[in-house]
Amino acid sequence: MCGIVGYIGTKNTKEILLEGLKELEYRGYDSAGIAVLQGDDFSDFKAVGKLVNLEEKTKEFITDKFAVGIGHTRWATHGKPTELNAHPHLGESSYVVHNGIIENYVELKRELQDSGITFLSQTDTEVIVHQFEKNLKTSENAFEAFQQTIQEIKGAYAVLLVTKSEPGTIFFAKYGSPMLVGINAENEKYFASSDTPLIGSCSDVNYFEDGDYGYVTADEIIIFDKDSQQKEPVFSKLSTNKLSAQKDGYRFFMEKEIYEQSTVIADTLLGRLGEDEILFDELPGDLFDGVNEIKLCACGTSYHSALSASYLFERYSKTRTSVEIASEFRYREPLMSKDTLFVVISQSGETADTLETLKMAKQAGLKTLAICNVDNSSMVRLADATILTRAGIEKGVASTKAFATQVIVFWMLSLYVAKSKNSLSSQKIAEHIALLREVPASVKVDDEMHEKLKRLSKRYLHGHGFFFIGRDIFFPLALEGALKLKEISYLHAEGYPSGEMKHGPIALADPELFTIALLPKHLHYEKAKSNVEELSARDSTICAISAEEFSKADDFIQIASHEHYMLEFFEMMVVLQLLSLEISVRLGNDVDMPRNLAKSVTVE
Ligand code: F6R
Repeated sequence: MCGIVGYIGTKNTKEILLEGLKELEYRGYDSAGIAVLQGDDFSDFKAVGKLVNLEEKTKEFITDKFAVGIGHTRWATHGKPTELNAHPHLGESSYVVHNGIIENYVELKRELQDSGITFLSQTDTEVIVHQFEKNLKTSENAFEAFQQTIQEIKGAYAVLLVTKSEPGTIFFAKYGSPMLVGINAENEKYFASSDTPLIGSCSDVNYFEDGDYGYVTADEIIIFDKDSQQKEPVFSKLSTNKLSAQKDGYRFFMEKEIYEQSTVIADTLLGRLGEDEILFDELPGDLFDGVNEIKLCACGTSYHSALSASYLFERYSKTRTSVEIASEFRYREPLMSKDTLFVVISQSGETADTLETLKMAKQAGLKTLAICNVDNSSMVRLADATILTRAGIEKGVASTKAFATQVIVFWMLSLYVAKSKNSLSSQKIAEHIALLREVPASVKVDDEMHEKLKRLSKRYLHGHGFFFIGRDIFFPLALEGALKLKEISYLHAEGYPSGEMKHGPIALADPELFTIALLPKHLHYEKAKSNVEELSARDSTICAISAEEFSKADDFIQIASHEHYMLEFFEMMVVLQLLSLEISVRLGNDVDMPRNLAKSVTVE
């Protein structure tokens, strides 16, 4: 995802900004830029692609005196990765960089355009700088104009702004996106959106809290809180280990990515939830016209999210849905009819088998849609339409937050179609939207739960196999739970529909067969429970996950009591991810880079 750096001091500002941006490269980006104010001279540089392109552009640029500078790496969300869309964004005499999403940018942009302002980019960010300059015309000073601007924007943001009207100052604001300021003995000030760029340059850092805003000069750091009360910075010592800083203190990237699901899901939802409708501005209005069937095609974890989607599409959108494993689909001479919307799902957008099926569908004249995490990837470029999942870069080879955000997109999409087909009432859609808003809280990792799973994991390091079982949409979740465990523990695990066990697999039941049973309270509870009882009667070791007490289990993991099965789905997803992680840790495996696996499978 996007990264921010900022600097006030007398050293080589250009180098400091570029070095800082390099430290944020691991987060993923598709364009970058810097703006530097030295005295009265403003200079800005932007480049698409890797940072070497920006370095090349700034080769002749010299920064050898006191300066303020801001820099940004952009992971495209609103608008393609182009130079015009890259940050910093320029007004008449100010620049801004921003992480997050401005939810009310459409209204603000319209008002600004009506007052004669020309926008150069397609981004939501550009409204900040124009709104600031508009306010500057009627304010006492730049800070007042900035404060007013922050009160006018809605959404999630970490913002840095520099302006000629107050040289030597960086204005900042933070809400929902991380940002910190660092200091050192040489009286320099550094900003960044995570620790890593500051390691080695700063001794102490202040992490801004949601609602904080203010300004920093060479001599002072002025912070106001969400109630506009001035407060003192709270400094803490900065770690000196870069790799662990990239992991934000977690042991593994996979663990960090499990923990950040709450935040990335909030990003996936941002700007897309209306009162009783889903807003996918990125979709052409006629995408579903004449569509009688949806065909979903993917590999691995993305295939599991597609399977989950099929339950939602048939249940809520009343649209016939089929799901295909890409490597099978491409060689089985499939029949494709033009009333089918062909949807590919991929974290990377580069998986060779899935990409090939997209080409086949296009060739057959089908409408196509990509659900993808990486803008400008091959699938995004090829498909007629795209919904980005906004999960940020996923480093752990075992996919976690990508899966979570894909299912969220599918849930939203099923409601989007339901609205256009009138298959759900507005009131029902509004109820679902209220539930969607609860997901970020439901996937927050509970420390006690994590501790319990750590302890429990020691009982599941052997045996002759695992069955993860569930019914309905919990069947694909069971498949995903089994895949996670296989990938990082190297133990044999299968996902199975609970009701199918007695048609064969139950023959394996004995105390060394571990059954991980998903028992949602709000979906076929009694049916799923009796399936588990059948296994328990045959002495299989049962680990049940449910909100309801279940006496037949050897181990019981109690989730919170939710009002809807989809919230149970997301909380159980976290439990399964953590359980696999802890088993893998106990077995001494490389959690982030399991043997024989690659993050992006670009060969068939
Ligand atoms: C599992 C995993 C893989 C991928 C699969 C498809 O944890 O990561 O199964 O889901 O290789 O990759 P994408 O989604 O990039 O097409």
